[in-house]
Amino acid sequence: VERTLSIIKPDATKRNLTGKINTKFEEAGLRIVAQKRIHLTQDQAGEFYAVHKERPFFGELTEFMASGPVVVQVLEGENAIAKNREVMGATNPADAAAGTIRAEFAESVGENSVHGSDAPDTAKEEISFFFSGLELVG
Ligand code: GTP
Ligand code: MG
Repeated sequence: VERTLSIIKPDATKRNLTGKINTKFEEAGLRIVAQKRIHLTQDQAGEFYAVHKERPFFGELTEFMASGPVVVQVLEGENAIAKNREVMGATNPADAAAGTIRAEFAESVGENSVHGSDAPDTAKEEISFFFSGLELVG
């Protein structure tokens, strides 16, 4: 089995969508093996999204990610990384397939409700950014 890092972003926690989003994961066969609600500083958000540092939207992105609580979680399942990205839908909700989290809940390309790791190496890095091994309960 594979694990991936998921973040329920501030636009979604603000609208009380944590439960509905978790239902989407669980219905897709993804198990939530770790989960906590935290409020990032903009510096911490910048560290997490360091790969996007040179992008024009970096300031907007980190400000948004620090604008309210997020729920960080580890999802486990067969092909969890790809499966999660399928359940999330395209980055821009206008392009997201019907039934995906972003199609149903996202407000814009920036405020798009969820993050999911995009590859095994980034999943490993992102999980250890937020969680210790003791916090992962399979
Ligand atoms: P993540 O799972 O969050 O990494 O999304 P992604 O892989 O589908 O998108 P990408 O890695 O290209 O971008 C990371 C995040 O930056 C997105 O999820 C958006 O929240 C944000 N983002 C991407 N493009 C834009 C943009 O044009 N404007 C703003 N404000 N934010 C953007
Ligand atoms: Mg990405």
